[in-house]
Amino acid sequence: MDYAVELNGITKKYGNLTAVDNLNLKIPPGSIFGFLGPNGSGKTTTIRMMCGVLTPTSGSGKVLGYDILKNPEEIKKKIGYMSQKFSLYEDLTVEENLDFYGEIYSIPPKEFKERKDIVYRMAGLSGREKTLAGNLSGGWKQRLALGCALIHKPSLLFLDEPTAGVDPVSRRIFWKVIREMTKNNITVIVSTHYMDEAQTCDLVGFIFKGKLLDFGDPNEIVKKNNAQNLEDVFIKYVEEMTGEHHGVRPLDIFFNG
Ligand SMILES: Nc1ncnc2c1ncn2[C@@H]1O[C@H](COP(=O)(O)OP(=O)(O)O)[C@@H](O)[C@H]1O
Ligand SMILES: [Mg+2]
Repeated sequence: MDYAVELNGITKKYGNLTAVDNLNLKIPPGSIFGFLGPNGSGKTTTIRMMCGVLTPTSGSGKVLGYDILKNPEEIKKKIGYMSQKFSLYEDLTVEENLDFYGEIYSIPPKEFKERKDIVYRMAGLSGREKTLAGNLSGGWKQRLALGCALIHKPSLLFLDEPTAGVDPVSRRIFWKVIREMTKNNITVIVSTHYMDEAQTCDLVGFIFKGKLLDFGDPNEIVKKNNAQNLEDVFIKYVEEMTGEHHGVRPLDIFFNG
């Protein structure tokens, strides 16, 4: 398997709307790929096609060596997926949430106990096993959701805006946990609006209106664009695509009309 993910001309249409437009993507195993783009640009749709839960209108692809059209069930078993509205059961405890996912993936009991201990330790949830998930604060919830997505030891992990709405301290802890949990050659595909997070990814891709505008090492992308940071590059791409300029200085408008 040369690539953890390989998409060839993937397109998804909803009626007249082309949500994902002839997208090509190659992600080497063991890398962290940051998927960037404004709201509505097609990140979630692409992720759902990679997970084998959404069938593309055209194009082909392989995930972990399995064909996304012919073998979506195999893909679903082997990946971890934390969706934008992560799916915890608020009226179940921390442990019961993990048990639920353990059963879905039929993890043998002995291994399951070991995996749970690792998740508790890494997510800092030790001592909170009996707390209702609904009573955890945002950062803990997110780390529990990450634990649920990793409980079956997937070799590929999808995180769709996992840190949206989380405070900076929790975001930093969350990333530490991701890096800790993914040390063993797991591939991570993560969508985010936070450019500080994107900057630390091995690879990033910019998607806009369903098209992949750029792909590569974040530092090289910054350099190539003569920019200060990834945020400037991101804004530049959006401005080029829309013809609108967002570099307005609010005070200029205030004083000069
Ligand atoms: N089930 C659906 N039916 C119709 N349109 C959809 C559906 N899901 C997404 N879209 C549209 O596809 C485009 C891409 O959406 P999405 O992949 O959710 O973008 P992102 O995750 O980057 O915000 C948007 O215009 C969105 O409104
Ligand atoms: Mg989305």
